[in-house]
Amino acid sequence: MYHLACVSCGATYPADEIIYNCKKCGHLLAVKYPLDTITVSKKVWDKRPLSVWRYKELLPVRIDPISLQEGGTPLYHLKRLGDEMGLKHLYAKHEGMNPSGSFKDRGMTVGVSMAIQLKKTSVACASTGNTSASLAVYAAKAGIPAIVLLPAGKVAVGKVAQALMHGAKVISIRGNFDRALEMVHELCLSHGLYLLNSINPYRLEGQKTIGFESIDQLGDVPDRIVLPVGNAGNISAVYKGLLELQELDLIDSLPMMTGIQAVGSAPVVRAIRENLPEVIAETNPETVATAIRIGAPVNGEKALVAIRKTGGIAETVTDDEILRMQRDLARKEGIGVEPASAASVAGIRKLVETGDIDRNERIVCVVTGHLLKDPDTVIKQCEPPTEIDADLPSLLSALHLSS
Ligand code: F0G
Repeated sequence: MYHLACVSCGATYPADEIIYNCKKCGHLLAVKYPLDTITVSKKVWDKRPLSVWRYKELLPVRIDPISLQEGGTPLYHLKRLGDEMGLKHLYAKHEGMNPSGSFKDRGMTVGVSMAIQLKKTSVACASTGNTSASLAVYAAKAGIPAIVLLPAGKVAVGKVAQALMHGAKVISIRGNFDRALEMVHELCLSHGLYLLNSINPYRLEGQKTIGFESIDQLGDVPDRIVLPVGNAGNISAVYKGLLELQELDLIDSLPMMTGIQAVGSAPVVRAIRENLPEVIAETNPETVATAIRIGAPVNGEKALVAIRKTGGIAETVTDDEILRMQRDLARKEGIGVEPASAASVAGIRKLVETGDIDRNERIVCVVTGHLLKDPDTVIKQCEPPTEIDADLPSLLSALHLSS
């Protein structure tokens, strides 16, 4: 049976204790499996469909999961963009193809299943949007109420629409994500709701399967995995999963974990650049990529370890670079993603230009959320439709064709 362990002081707690921070030192907790007693067979995994649940031996859920068939997302070879950048082996793992349109579903299928396993009757989160949409979806599937706190006016419309339609109680606070997380954390501790932000160790277990699937789809360990970083839960989760595969002798190398942030919201990049032992919070994060508009990443220190231990890189990209890559992915590869997701590939374009990566690397960029999440930012960048009278001459003239 697995247990919880503090990522800093190593103090341990039973698996069914509902706890998000170490009682001794306040740091986060992680799920620890007795890997020497777990039988995992690659052959058995390969027989199962590609999905979060292919890897169930390395997940904490012991009940029938609350599932909507999450994971199993496509890994696309970015041929045209790769050619432009001089990279033969550039891939995008399109997490926007999950049930609610983001990678959060991998975490929520596990997190909400754990809420049920732990006999919790209500769930809550703070969110820049995708977590709230995903929580609303999985709480609906489980038949339990969900409360979500959003930073007012800073969440893309598609995400708010999902949270509302799937029946969550949606609260917009006049404050940013970091404050919303503090508030919901206090609410959960005082009122017994189950907190499903990335400080929840069980939710992150689901997200580590992005790394597992990437290896299975590529047929080998990529040299580099690139993720947009907000709260830094995802990059830490993927790293944790890969360490487990290494300990199980299922892989013999680790990819260089590479984190990309927006220039206006880059506390993790700063800590790496300045070689700081911890992440210093930014008070006023700002970026067009609202999903990663986070100044105080709760998993920041875990991300520093992931990046440093694997010889990875942390880099920033400007809002213009993000939006240019969003358009390039859409128009040159047919891949529709939201701005935060484009940050990972935009980061690679920048790192190739600065000469910081080897062009022969096999690189998997995780593109985290679907284009339709944030239609307003899309429409602002595109020419509006040409409206014409309903007759053929008007059509030909609009197309600059002769009649
Ligand atoms: N990409 C997208 C589309 C996201 O929604 C998020 C996080 C990230 C990347 C960053 O992942 O936080 O694990 O480093 N969104 C959270 C939310 C914060 O509330 O939806 P991270």
